Amino acid sequence: MASTGIATTGRAHRSGALRTASEAAAIDEQAAQTPDSRLQGHWLLASMGKRVLRPGGLHLTREMLGAAAPHAGDRIVEFGPGVGLTAAELLAANPAFYVGIEPNTESRAKLDAVLAGRPARVVTAEASATGLDAGSADLVVGEAMLTMCSPQQRREIVAEAARVLAPGGRYAIHELALSDSAPDPDQRTARGDVARDISQKIKVGATPVKLAVWQALLVDAGFDVVWQGSAPMRLLEPTRLIADEGPIGFARFVTNMIRRPEARRRVLAMRNSFRAHKADLSAIAMVAVKKPARH
Ligand SMILES: C[S@@+](CC[C@H](N)C(=O)[O-])C[C@H]1O[C@@H](n2cnc3c(N)ncnc32)[C@H](O)[C@@H]1O
Repeated sequence: MASTGIATTGRAHRSGALRTASEAAAIDEQAAQTPDSRLQGHWLLASMGKRVLRPGGLHLTREMLGAAAPHAGDRIVEFGPGVGLTAAELLAANPAFYVGIEPNTESRAKLDAVLAGRPARVVTAEASATGLDAGSADLVVGEAMLTMCSPQQRREIVAEAARVLAPGGRYAIHELALSDSAPDPDQRTARGDVARDISQKIKVGATPVKLAVWQALLVDAGFDVVWQGSAPMRLLEPTRLIADEGPIGFARFVTNMIRRPEARRRVLAMRNSFRAHKADLSAIAMVAVKKPARH
């Protein structure tokens, strides 16, 4: 198996293939103890069986991966893989290896199940400090995770993607954007009325920014943006839920809404907030290529 280029010292902690099923189940059990009223929105949705946790849905992910073109032999890193749906798509390309960088252990058993038996592992670390060697990856993918970070954290994460990628390597992102007509958020904190409202509902600090700000983030870190796509932010609309989760997944989600009144209340509050701001919000995806170093 190809070397994963992972440093074994420091904050990064290896898991994935090395974690036993009982350890992973214990971690998920711990997450299951958190009441529905306190779970972060994406973990609440994941606990209800939702697997697609990014704003543009599976369709935008597939468009983005079409442009990023993962192929056999690629060394792939994913930031914030969550329950591992994109990991499964990336592994289908037969990469040399896949490394997920995921600081949270909620739903880890689901991710481990996707990676089992493949040249793949998870490192429990922040994407800003992966512990991976410089120039050790060909493709870095991150979805719905930069949106949850402050502008400073975002710059650190994008710089880490640039460090970990070999020159010519691709960086694919899929995030939440503000429309050009939306009021501008505070430049330093990226907070504004829309961010405040949705953050309160999802119980995570979400800071969507305008398309030009996302582009500048990548360009300033030494990338050329070579592809971009967008989709409406319809994460919790029934038609998107069916398209993303399939009829059986949709039925499972609805059953959980019926069985769990607090989860239902939270999901409806999140959906109402997304609806209230639908003119100001969209999902964007980009593929950027790391420029060769100048000598
Ligand atoms: C909304 S979920 C999206 C999960 C998955 N990428 C998807 O699109 O389905 C955000 C994910 O990013 C992870 N995350 C948040 N902050 C992170 C960071 N600083 N570094 C790496 N992952 C992070 C969360 O733990 C979670 O798995």
